[in-house]
Amino acid sequence: MKKQSQSTKVKFASGENIPLELHKVRVVQKLNLVPIERRLEAIREAGFNTFQLSTRDVFLDMLTDSGTNAMSDRQVAAMNHADDAYAGSQSFDRFKEAVAKVFGKKYLLPAHQGRAAENILAKAFIKQDSILPMNYHFTTTLAHIMLNGGKVIEILCDDAIQIKSKNPFKGNIDIKKLEKVIAENGVEKIPFIRMEASTNLIGGQPFSIANMREVRKVADKNGLIVVLDASLIGENAYFIKHREEEFKDASVGDIILAMCDLADIVYFSARKVTSSRGGGICTNDEKLYKIMKPLIPVYEGFFTYGGISVREIEAMAVGMMETIDETVISQSPSFIEYLVEQLELHGIPVVTPAGGLGCHVDAMGFLPHVPQTEYPAGALAAAFYLVSGVRGMERGTISSIRDENGNDILADVELLRLAMPRRVFTLSQVKYVEDRLRWLYKNRDLVGGLKFVSEPPVLRFFDGRLEATSDWPEKLMKKFREDFGDSL
Ligand code: F0G
Repeated sequence: MKKQSQSTKVKFASGENIPLELHKVRVVQKLNLVPIERRLEAIREAGFNTFQLSTRDVFLDMLTDSGTNAMSDRQVAAMNHADDAYAGSQSFDRFKEAVAKVFGKKYLLPAHQGRAAENILAKAFIKQDSILPMNYHFTTTLAHIMLNGGKVIEILCDDAIQIKSKNPFKGNIDIKKLEKVIAENGVEKIPFIRMEASTNLIGGQPFSIANMREVRKVADKNGLIVVLDASLIGENAYFIKHREEEFKDASVGDIILAMCDLADIVYFSARKVTSSRGGGICTNDEKLYKIMKPLIPVYEGFFTYGGISVREIEAMAVGMMETIDETVISQSPSFIEYLVEQLELHGIPVVTPAGGLGCHVDAMGFLPHVPQTEYPAGALAAAFYLVSGVRGMERGTISSIRDENGNDILADVELLRLAMPRRVFTLSQVKYVEDRLRWLYKNRDLVGGLKFVSEPPVLRFFDGRLEATSDWPEKLMKKFREDFGDSL
């Protein structure tokens, strides 16, 4: 009999595609659903920026999966036998062992989170005018590269940023474009090629192993290093298993190993990979390891804790092993797929195919009357919070930067990201999200734009403040009350 790994893809007699939870809930946290009048006050106080909301005013927190995935009983138990030591902690040995098993890399440097790993990589390898080809940037990646004088070149396939697509691997690097970037800039200028698993900013879209093999070939031909951002590697591996014929019978663990084997350096945010906190950089190349190593005590902490509490290191070690369990890793993608299917059924524009991390609503399709200069994704995030208490995240021009003349660099896509932290929400909560989004879509003409009131120079989406361009939030609230009476 063919070896089958357990997956949430359990068939229902009705034929409905319903994601099934293969876990039980044993610890719960009470949520607040405050009335819309309070939500209007809250979003105003937050400068129409969902990052600035307090969870006191948030019902379902779909801002991110970062540090918010549910921990397992085993992770929590492991935290109790943490070995608290500045140097030589056995907790770190356990983490290192898990990383060697799951990523297949023997040298491990701890970093307090993903962007701290990016800081180390940037400081170690990037010089003024360096060129960094990659499938797509992540916000913190771009910030570190720019702060160190480098330039990002995105070399995605042409349809990667099309909202609707049947391409199962929108995160693939376009090999011809990669070769062109190398030919035009010369290898000396390129410290490494970066591949991001489940490419975050374009909707959690994966790349294929076939594509990564091609990237490896080009790298080898030119003597270049391949760096893999493995923050969402489990999800990417899950998609490879279900979308890339060659790997349909492989385990998620084997696929993760195959991906890491094609990279010289693997770094990650453990806040995403392991349902805990922390991060790291690993490699099998001693030379590369030695270049990065001296930076760890300067920026992170001693080599055996790297700015991470040892309790979290224990949870990371267990979480790392759980990443290769398909019943764990399939949770988020299968719930996302469900929500995407339901929204599509009702004509709501969403990124397809469904990706990892979250459901991504196309704000320009949802609010075609809001010009991109008035931040449709930010407006949609604020409007959706107002009508539902659900906190999503803007992933569009507010998350972008300004050019040297102070003009917005308009984002390729304007998305409202509704993150689906692993094993956190129930299906009825997901159905609530669907219901309120459908209502908002019917009333979309009421939603207007936003403008900046104040913005910081770097990563402005975190604490920039905005306001509505008209009294549209009040009008939306009035309509909500007309339709829902005194319901929350
Ligand atoms: N790389 C990717 C692909 C990420 O998604 C993130 C974080 C990082 C690096 C940085 O890691 O947060 O531990 O410093 N993504 C989070 C998100 C913040 O909400 O998507 P970090």
